[in-house]
Amino acid sequence: MKFFATAAKGTEPALRDELRELQLPGVRADRGGVHFEGEAIAAYRACLWSRVALRVLSPLATFEAPDEAGVYEGVHAVDLDAVLDPTRTLVVTAACRSSRLTHSGYLCQLTKDAVVDRIRTRRGARPSVDKRDADVHLFLHLAKDVGTLYLDFAGHSLHERGLRMPGAEAPLRETLAAAVVRYSGWDRESPFVDPACGSGTLLLEAGLWARRVAPGLSREHFGFERWVGFGDAERRRLDELKAEARALERPSAPPLIGRDVAEDALALARQSARRANVSLRLEVGALGDAEIADAGAVVANPPYGRRLARPAELGRDLARLVDRHAQAHVALLLAEDQPLARTRRRPEPPRSLFNGDIPCVLRTWSPLAPLP
Ligand SMILES: C[S@@+](CC[C@H](N)C(=O)[O-])C[C@H]1O[C@@H](n2cnc3c(N)ncnc32)[C@H](O)[C@@H]1O
Repeated sequence: MKFFATAAKGTEPALRDELRELQLPGVRADRGGVHFEGEAIAAYRACLWSRVALRVLSPLATFEAPDEAGVYEGVHAVDLDAVLDPTRTLVVTAACRSSRLTHSGYLCQLTKDAVVDRIRTRRGARPSVDKRDADVHLFLHLAKDVGTLYLDFAGHSLHERGLRMPGAEAPLRETLAAAVVRYSGWDRESPFVDPACGSGTLLLEAGLWARRVAPGLSREHFGFERWVGFGDAERRRLDELKAEARALERPSAPPLIGRDVAEDALALARQSARRANVSLRLEVGALGDAEIADAGAVVANPPYGRRLARPAELGRDLARLVDRHAQAHVALLLAEDQPLARTRRRPEPPRSLFNGDIPCVLRTWSPLAPLP
């Protein structure tokens, strides 16, 4: 089978490296995600282990779709008996670019109609739609008038790990945080510091990665577990993968140190850490004063936008932070227009990333070699 794991723009290289480490065959980065191949179990592994992927899609059919009839007939021809029957629910999402049909809501409707019409004709009853918690998630992608219907193995997006406390202000998505931690160059052995940690997403992702905890272990279920064809053999295979993952876990992570000016954010970080069984050292304080002598990585997503009164002052604090931690990897995820004062260290080439739809830049510095 062929698969496409989707990822936020700019995080594709992190996902590619991660899927290569899982030793999945045919790994190749593309725009918006990473291709790989294998049997269904390869998709199970990606769902269980990927920290960066949002979804794991498998193409079911590709067809000419210059108009409404093309979409309907293309989808209608697809046999979904292995996943969907009249007792189950479905949801369809769609995206289109450079095509005559331009309304994704209409594409969802057409796709859903074609799927349920086929099942009703053959089975005498039809599955219903559940937009909140469907058993089967389908995705239609239309590009240059060619449609591809995908089956989504993950179901709900993989960033929903089920660990984080709700209520945080401007939290990073877990999947973006995982990519940022990877891009920072941290070795997973030395102390990891987030001096503006908010609800602690970067610290949590760092801790889970260092402890080799498979992020999918905390999920209630994956989409594929609710398909018609997910029987005893498939359940056994998934259980084996989970048992293997648990056996690989390390009991502890290196020190994970968080600081923030907002005590309520630190309280959320503390609660999420308890849920995730990750231990954090948290302190109230400003990032401008942070100085952790043995830090291996200093990684942060400082405040931006409306919440920020004095961007130039923050820019000076950040530059000081970089220079004070000369022996550490430093990675700062900043709004594109955040000024940064001059640093004594030379930055690596910046990476463009998106925090939701906010264009950001990830600036990184490698450790200076210690003086002889
Ligand atoms: C964009 S949020 C970080 C979100 C965090 N990565 C998360 O996922 O929850 C920025 C954080 O910086 C904190 N902050 C603002 N000014 C600060 C300062 N001078 N020193 C330290 N933290 C600061 C805010 O309280 C906020 O929690």
